[in-house]
Amino acid sequence: MKLMVIGGGGREHAIIRKLKENPRVEVIYALPGNGGMEGDAVCVPIGAKDIPAQVEFARTHGIDFAVVAPDDPLVLGAVDALNAIGVPCFGPRKNAAILEGSKAFAKNLMKQYGIPTAAYEIFTDLNQALAYVETAPIPTVIKADGLALGKGVVIAQTREEARAALRDMMENKVFGDSGSRVVIEEFLTGPEVSVLSFTDGKTLVPMVSSMDHKRAHDGDQGLNTGGMGTVAPNPYYTPAVAERCMREIFLPTIRAMEKEGRPFTGCLYFGLMLTPNGPKVIEYNCRFGDPETQVVLPLLDTDLLTIMEATANGTLDQVEVRFQNRHACCVVLASDGYPTHYEKGYPITLPQTGAEEEIYIAGAARKDGELVTSGGRVLGAVAVAETLPRAIEKAYDLAGRIHFDNAYCRRDIGQRALAAGKEN
Ligand code: AMP
Ligand code: GLY
Repeated sequence: MKLMVIGGGGREHAIIRKLKENPRVEVIYALPGNGGMEGDAVCVPIGAKDIPAQVEFARTHGIDFAVVAPDDPLVLGAVDALNAIGVPCFGPRKNAAILEGSKAFAKNLMKQYGIPTAAYEIFTDLNQALAYVETAPIPTVIKADGLALGKGVVIAQTREEARAALRDMMENKVFGDSGSRVVIEEFLTGPEVSVLSFTDGKTLVPMVSSMDHKRAHDGDQGLNTGGMGTVAPNPYYTPAVAERCMREIFLPTIRAMEKEGRPFTGCLYFGLMLTPNGPKVIEYNCRFGDPETQVVLPLLDTDLLTIMEATANGTLDQVEVRFQNRHACCVVLASDGYPTHYEKGYPITLPQTGAEEEIYIAGAARKDGELVTSGGRVLGAVAVAETLPRAIEKAYDLAGRIHFDNAYCRRDIGQRALAAGKEN
């Protein structure tokens, strides 16, 4: 089979490595991929948002199956366009990707179907939003409606910060049109859990849970990033919590989408907060998380391509989805200064990887045959082990064998999860 994976980060690298395990796979094209994936896929310089070029490529190269990994092409309708020329895809169509594409849509859906989430109001008028935050409980959470590279959320600790965030989004348009509409919501507290799931629109199978580390610095300090590391499973996500989430959140969500005539297929990602009043949805993503995928897929014991095909043809209830009862840790090596200012172009030296070690490359390019850094998050060092402490130790050991000038990583990936394990 000829496969095409749209996207070019560490998440896509992890997906490609897993897909390659299936002997039916002859070739995987990555659009655009990155210089660090070249041993695993044929990289094609077509951008993740260039849907006409993707369709043309799929047609001329006889692509049998496509995986659309990032949010942008999904929200723009890449799956619809590829389906229209007969290419089956892993990923939701545009009318279902709106679950991530519009926070207002997601909030209204949850309200209508009684799915637990933070209380909220939606505004399109700056003055009304400003008036609302004069009396809203502080802290308050302000979210741009549309996609904003994961940066469209402000936790305002004061009314002044709330006013500034609203002005930035609605008046100064720092996120473009994504901020024309904002959601202002109740501030929730509790541990966060990421649960990715496979779904064909009727059957939903949760993957192993995980914990992201979104802030740039140790102790959850510094700016929000795309994610500095992950562990799986997440110890806060006990079997009792999982059962409750399935009943109160996961199944109600896919049933609601089906009822709305927007059946969701592909990977539905639940960003949850385990509040004192039970699990609540912080966000939906219409795709695999990055860097959650880098710890979830190494634990998948059954064939990824078979599962992905089943999500596309409505037979997920007939395939086995099984995860190893082990632990994984991903430490992201970034360019120092990420997520604001950082230098690029430094040569990367990669070690041999041993058993249960993976390096997934995100921000790297080939220059005169040499692999050099080309982005903020450069790569993820991933290890799988019997226990969480061992997985963390092995991931840091692997990270320590990788070299490039300017490399930065958090030193405390997994520590919160370890502490949770001790509380229990
Ligand atoms: P999001 O982009 O929606 O994942 O939000 C980014 C981060 O903001 C989340 O991972 C949470 O840590 C935080 N956050 C979002 N919504 C809330 C909320 N209602 N209460 C508290 N924290 C929140
Ligand atoms: N790691 C969070 C996300 O992929 O949105």
